[in-house]
Amino acid sequence: MKIAIGCDHAAFAMKEEIRDYLTEQGHEVTDCGTYSPERCDYPVYGERVARVVKAGEAERGVLICGTGVGISLAANKVPGIRAAVCSEPFTARLSREHNNAQIIAFGARVVGIGMAKMIVDAFLSAEFEGGRHADRVALITEIENRRG
Ligand code: RB5
Repeated sequence: MKIAIGCDHAAFAMKEEIRDYLTEQGHEVTDCGTYSPERCDYPVYGERVARVVKAGEAERGVLICGTGVGISLAANKVPGIRAAVCSEPFTARLSREHNNAQIIAFGARVVGIGMAKMIVDAFLSAEFEGGRHADRVALITEIENRRG
């Protein structure tokens, strides 16, 4: 699978590890940065990954900052993008099955590397169930189309 990954300085080490973990599994990973532990601004990387996913250059995205909150908020500003913050695998799986999230986000200051891998595994192995969930996701898109 083609996956885009991004992070800020708070999550640099975890991003490196998750990127290598995904690559070892045979995924084609686009690393959207950041590329060092130097202080940086999470919205830049949230938007980068969201745009790569939106363009269809990656099927899924992984975003990591201190909490997962800021970077997902930024990604969610890109129309059509659904980025879900999850701290455990159950929510990560349901974010695919019910919400058709294309991007998973979590916090390097919240979860350890073992839990992060489980979250990513759950997210990548689940599929959107459609049906009644598709109607609800369509309502989210409708809100997006009405805004402003
Ligand atoms: C950076 O200190 C921190 O604010 C950021 O990584 C993230 O947690 C924001 O939501």
